[in-house]
Amino acid sequence: MAAFFHGSEREVKISLIAARAENNVIGLNNSMPWNARGEQLLFKALTFNQWLIVGRKTFESMGVLADRKFAVLSRGNNLKESENVRVFGSLDSALDVLGGITDHVMVAGGGEVYRETIEFADCIHLTTVHLSPEGDAFFPEVPGFFERVFSQEFSSNINYIYEIFVR
Ligand SMILES: NC(=O)c1ccc[n+]([C@@H]2O[C@H](COP(=O)([O-])OP(=O)(O)OC[C@H]3O[C@@H](n4cnc5c(N)ncnc54)[C@H](OP(=O)(O)O)[C@@H]3O)[C@@H](O)[C@H]2O)c1
Repeated sequence: MAAFFHGSEREVKISLIAARAENNVIGLNNSMPWNARGEQLLFKALTFNQWLIVGRKTFESMGVLADRKFAVLSRGNNLKESENVRVFGSLDSALDVLGGITDHVMVAGGGEVYRETIEFADCIHLTTVHLSPEGDAFFPEVPGFFERVFSQEFSSNINYIYEIFVR
């Protein structure tokens, strides 16, 4: 399957970007169960002017952020499209279309979409906050074929580490 999403048929680089807790929690009741000051600056910088693939639940909680383009996945497909928002009924159809207009997409959640894409990803930008909160959405285990190529610890009201993994 990896070759299908990342082979000669579709040359689009796929990066995941996520913030998880030490117990892999990424959300509770469709929002983030922590507020680590400064941590969202990484997200803002890395996603600037990028195409973001997001699940419908994440899109509904995040809304349309300026200076980003959204490919929203929904099997219901009753979401409204706009200049910077496209809606797709499958991951495959999203990658087909995006592969024709960009060479890089960033998967920005949530848990279901991270699970569906991590095996195909080229790169993972992963922040881990040093907490273990209660949650109902989770980041998957990073597969062993990823290599950590960068890490930096940040001190804040909640300390966190930012890591980059490449396959
Ligand atoms: N910490 C972080 O970095 C981070 C980032 C993003 C989100 N989050 C958190 O993650 C949680 C949401 O994650 P979640 O797993 O509940 O939901 P989600 O992944 O955001 O969205 C799931 C929905 O996306 C659609 N979908 C998923 N895969 C699809 C596919 N292959 N084809 C078509 N549609 C597809 C479906 O929508 P329909 O039901 O409409 O068919 C599905 O119900 C929230 O708590 C949010 O705050 C955290």
